[in-house]
Amino acid sequence: MSQHYQYDVLVIGSGAAGLTLALRLAPYAQVAVLSKANLQDGSTLWAQGGVAAVMDDDHEAIASHVQDTLSAGAGLCHADVVDFTVRHSREAINWLTDMGVPFTTESNGQLHYTREGGHSERRIIHAADATGRAIETTLEQQARAHPNIHVFEHHMAIDLITSQKLGEHDNRVVGAYVYDNRRNRTVVFEVKRVALASGGASKVYLYTTNPDLSTGDGIAMGWRAGCRVANMEFNQFHPTCLYHREEKSFLISEAVRGEGGRLLLPDGTRFMDKYDSRAELAPRDIVARAIDNEMKQQGIEHVYLDISHKPSDFIRQHFPNIYQRCLALGYDMTREPIPVVPAAHYTCGGLMTDLHGRTDVQGLYAIGEVSFTGLHGANRMASNSLLECLVFASSASEAIRRELEHIEQHPTLPDWDESRVTDSDEEVVVVHNWEELRHFMWDYVGIVRTDKRLQRAKRRVELLKLEIQEYYSNFHITSDLLELRNLVTVADLIIRCAMERKESRGLHYTLDYPQLSEDLQDTCLTPKNFMPPP
Ligand code: FAD
Ligand code: SIN
Repeated sequence: MSQHYQYDVLVIGSGAAGLTLALRLAPYAQVAVLSKANLQDGSTLWAQGGVAAVMDDDHEAIASHVQDTLSAGAGLCHADVVDFTVRHSREAINWLTDMGVPFTTESNGQLHYTREGGHSERRIIHAADATGRAIETTLEQQARAHPNIHVFEHHMAIDLITSQKLGEHDNRVVGAYVYDNRRNRTVVFEVKRVALASGGASKVYLYTTNPDLSTGDGIAMGWRAGCRVANMEFNQFHPTCLYHREEKSFLISEAVRGEGGRLLLPDGTRFMDKYDSRAELAPRDIVARAIDNEMKQQGIEHVYLDISHKPSDFIRQHFPNIYQRCLALGYDMTREPIPVVPAAHYTCGGLMTDLHGRTDVQGLYAIGEVSFTGLHGANRMASNSLLECLVFASSASEAIRRELEHIEQHPTLPDWDESRVTDSDEEVVVVHNWEELRHFMWDYVGIVRTDKRLQRAKRRVELLKLEIQEYYSNFHITSDLLELRNLVTVADLIIRCAMERKESRGLHYTLDYPQLSEDLQDTCLTPKNFMPPP
């Protein structure tokens, strides 16, 4: 028999989105927070540059942040969502400051602002070059100390339990099956509301700046539960991941370019001004594509990022962590250029939500990178992601708090059924399929696409889907198998969205349709079990 837990709210994920939501709800509700690894693990911990925000009522400053976001998003941002997010940015930063996040300040105590690609002015609030660590560790400390927040580390959500799956006539979320990977058992959470805050899916690509946890679990679980997804073709590749044999995922923050860093070819020539008048500070899609193009044309494995023309004290003070890490890996960025390549960084698409993070399934919320709110359009602007996590966690908490006042818990939910599975005798299948998937996604669904490449990827993903489903139905689960099952679902959604978009826009670039279409449309996919909310 499975162990059953009962809470008001289950938050799946403990990054900036999940912990903010949990802390905002904790005065009113009993909250369980799941993390599939240690509580602080996730993309948030690794965020470097900062959080974009407007800290006063200055209409021009708000309009400018809105306008930069819209331009980076290449016509597909939802203007109302951008406006909503920017207008709530000040409150989000003030809340973090009240929680104790140590943002970098000037000598007069005022916040220091840095700059990144796509921003026409300095508006990025940061904690040196490790903003995510400052946010995550502060929120972790607060969450662990709160009596109404119960933390479940190494607990991986497998699937949501919905009234539809229980044979009822509507589609409400009522709980989740969760794999406790330390005790190798599956438990049941029976709750009134669920929030997916499980991050993005960049691990679907061979090279990524993301930690291993970014396997798109929430997108896949939401899709299986009946949520629509949108714009999965817009996978952001960060232009500057360190190129190093052993350290494959270390990001060199865009703030390095914001503070004067230049991109160079091996012979020392700058090249970005050939591609965009904003040169190194063009939005990410343009810079990543330019680097990719130079690498292919010149037959080189990486380009260089050089900030050594700035005083070394300035570099060490602004980028202490990046400086130390590079030094440990053999590069002194105060004296020499460092080798960089683009890598998958951010999932702009996700589960469709409204301004309060509500998805298509009643009672199910999605916040942070797992969601598609309409903020990022065809390309997310730097440092707008943490902002989205914070703003939508806050608006979702208000909606959930109001709803909790008048809903009952669903009666006892069924146990997890393991009666028809056995131990696998071929774990190698899981390892092999993981590698195959990430390779063909990189080769065929990467920075530059074609119809032929997408068709090739589609054929392969269909086969993998069948194999993985068969494996999942016959054998006991492991975390690797669960992640692979989710990754293959997400890969399929990415390919399907990419095949639907017959133009090149923002992060989706295809040689077969190099032009912009006049039709400004999100790519929306609807699952078979979708039920319009009442
Ligand atoms: P995450 O922080 O990724 O957290 C996901 C959580 O979900 C984890 O706790 C994980 O354990 C949990 N989880 C996942 N699946 C399951 C499951 N099945 N069951 C249980 N738990 C699960 N954005 C900015 O705005 N500014 C920046 O400076 C910036 N720098 C970045 C630098 C790097 C190197 C990276 C990788 C990203 C950066 N980003 C930045 C993007 C930003 O960090 C992320 O988009 C954001 O942190 C996502 O937060 P999140 O809360 O949605 O998810
Ligand atoms: C960076 O510091 O370059 C990452 C910023 C972001 O992803 O928003």
